[in-house]
Order: sequence, then structure tokens, then C-alpha cells
Amino acid sequence: MANKAINIGLIGFGTIGSGVVETFNLNLPLIEDKVKRKVNLKRIVDLDIETDRGVEVNPEILSTDINDILDDPEIDIVIELIGGYQPALSFILKAMSQGKHVVTANKALLAKHWDEIMESSQINQVRISFEASVGGGIPLLRPLNESMAANKIEDIYGIINGTANYILTKMADDQRDFDEVLKEAQEKGYAEQDPTFDIEGHDTAQKLIILTIIGFGVYVKQEDFHVEGITHITLDDIEFARNELGCCIKLLAISTISNGELEVRVHPTLVDEKHLLSSVNDAFNGVYIIGDVVGPVMMYGQGAGMMPTASAVVGDCIDLIEEMGKPLTYGPEKTRVTRIKDMNEVISKYYLRLMVTDKPGVLHEISGILSDLDISLESVSQKKQVTGNDVPIFMVTHQALEENIQKAVQRIEKLESVKGEVIFIRIL
Ligand code: HSE
Repeated sequence: MANKAINIGLIGFGTIGSGVVETFNLNLPLIEDKVKRKVNLKRIVDLDIETDRGVEVNPEILSTDINDILDDPEIDIVIELIGGYQPALSFILKAMSQGKHVVTANKALLAKHWDEIMESSQINQVRISFEASVGGGIPLLRPLNESMAANKIEDIYGIINGTANYILTKMADDQRDFDEVLKEAQEKGYAEQDPTFDIEGHDTAQKLIILTIIGFGVYVKQEDFHVEGITHITLDDIEFARNELGCCIKLLAISTISNGELEVRVHPTLVDEKHLLSSVNDAFNGVYIIGDVVGPVMMYGQGAGMMPTASAVVGDCIDLIEEMGKPLTYGPEKTRVTRIKDMNEVISKYYLRLMVTDKPGVLHEISGILSDLDISLESVSQKKQVTGNDVPIFMVTHQALEENIQKAVQRIEKLESVKGEVIFIRIL
């Protein structure tokens, strides 16, 4: 091994950081053999260097001083695993300005500060790798960027939030309502105490931003696309979808292009049980990508967790070591995208659920509104009374324009015989 040893600095000794240390403990000889160099985890910086993480680590490499990494000229690669916007952004920018390559799992930071980070990478001629930021341990971004490079990417459909997928799966399997499953998931540690980020779709949206950059070469900010979570999904929706339509409900991240126009959106979606994505259950992630040459490809695996995510982080380090000295991969790209479509322009089939008073003429009023807005119904189903004189109605439309569905829902909700909200879910 004549080549210079590579020194790595790790910022953040939390769950994933501990997984990274454990991966080096387990597989350092294999890693060194692959890159034909000595690889040395030289420094770990964290505010807490006292707590036992349950992994073997040389206490002499632990420090609470970030400059022990950022100002150390011997450190070649900085792994950032503290998450959040600041100080992670400052640490990454400083590391780059010192000529260090960066590995991060920080999807929130990349999704928000993409341009600034990439500009710094270009200016300083250093790389940043972030395989772990989407789909945790699943090899996803590099296969999309490199192995599928001969393709024009047409569609990306992702189940990329394990918490939301776990909740939807449990609701369906155990026939339980959202709140009950969420509470149990929190008690068991599958969901955060504040689960907003996962169940409202924000985590999925950040990951979709990164997938869209790699797949379509265009950076779309979160405020510029539709993001909808799963909190309004009920057991009734799941059961109707399954029993009457042969579908399951998944929180999907969607990026799809047609004639240069890109749709980017996150929302719960009815997915046919025959579609590969319907088999992505529990906390697993799956991303279904269609390339014009290869056709459909599905990547599946553990989208979070200590060792799966560490696998992607250390994989990035190996890749960086092998790529050192070569031209940068993630530069400004040409894109086929001419326009980002507004959500109102989306065309889809829709499932609608509403409560109505069971009396003559109600369906007539509703179907009048739908037909005024050019929405054609495929099926209507009225279930038995549940409260007093009110009954739930389930409808499925043919392909309709989102703008018209939104208008129809607003008008239907104003009808005297309609109780509460009209829930609508798009169908893949
Ligand atoms: N909170 C995420 C999830 C994992 O539930 O999938 C980290 O991205």
C-alpha cells in the first residue's frame, strides 16, 4: 500500500456516527484492500464524548473541538452526521474551503442549501457525497446517477419515509386507526415524539428534492411543489381501497416528466396491489424508477437505521477515495426540464370520501357539481349508516384535472347535506 494514507474526521457521534465507527471496526481490512490505501478514522468530534455508544473506539481520537477536524491539514474527508441546518452548513463549507471532501447524510441541508453547497464544491474542487441522504442504506443515488446514466429518466416514484410507511402498513394489517398506530409507533420508538416531519411529508419532500436533482438535473425548492402527509387517511380509506379497488395507500414521492414538463409532488396515493411499490411495507423504503432504455427499476431496502445508513456513509468514503483526483461528478448539468408544472395541472384518477345526510337528491347535487367541472365518475358506493342519518359515500373518478377536483371539493363541502371535509386521494 504505497499510496498515502487517507485520514477521516467524523462530526457527530450519534446513532449513525456510531454505526460508521462500527463499520470501520468490522470491515477496515476489506475497505483498505479495496482502495489500496491505509484508511484512518483520525478524529471524532461531538459535544458529548462521555456517553458509552456501545462501540469500540480509541478515546484519544474523541474531541469536543470542531477545529480539531476542520483545521487539521491531514484530514482528507469530513463526514458530517449532526443533521439540521446550522452549524452543519458552516462546518461543511469550512471543510470544503480547507480542501476537504465531504460525506453527509443531511437531506434537510442539501434540500435547502443545494446551490450554495455545490458552488463551494466547484470553487474548492472538492467532492460531496450523500448516498445516505435518501433511502438510508439502499444504493440509490449513485446507481441513478451512474449506472442509469445512459437513460433519460422518465419517472421516479418513491416510498422514502419509513415512519409513514410503517404507520400505513400497520393500519392496513391490524385494521387500526391512524392515531392508535402512531401512538404505538411512538411508544416503540419507531416514530419520533414529534412525528410532524415524517407524517406531514416534509422528510419525503426533502428526499424527493435530491432524487429530482439526480434524476432530472433540476433543483426544485420545497415551497414550489405540493406536499401532503398522511394524517387525514382513515381505516375506512384503507379498507375501501383494498376491498373495492384492490389498492393499498402509500405516501409517494413523485417526479415525472412529459414533453419536458416536470411534475414534482408528495402525497398519499392509491397504488394497485399488483404494482411492485405495494410490496414495500413496514419501515422499508422502495424507489421505482423508469428509464427510457432500461425500463422500470426498483430499489428496495432499509431507508434508515444505524448500520444500513452507516453502510451508505462508508460506501461514500470508499467512493471518494477512489475518485480523488478525477473531475467532479456533481457539476451543473444540462436538463431536459423546460418547466415545473403547477399542482393544478396534474391529471389523475381520484378517490373521494365524504359524509352526507341520507336523503333523496344528495347524490344528484354532488354529481351535478362534478359534471359541471368535467369530472366523470367511474364508481359510487354508499355504505350503511354510521351516525344518525349520515352515511359515508365513496367515489372514484376517471382521469380528471386537479384544479377541477379542488374546485369540486370546495363546492361539495358547501352543500347543506354534506358533513365536514371531503377527503380525496390520488390514484397512481
Ligand atoms: N425519519 C426517516 C424515516 C428516516 O422515517 O424514514 C430518516 O430519513
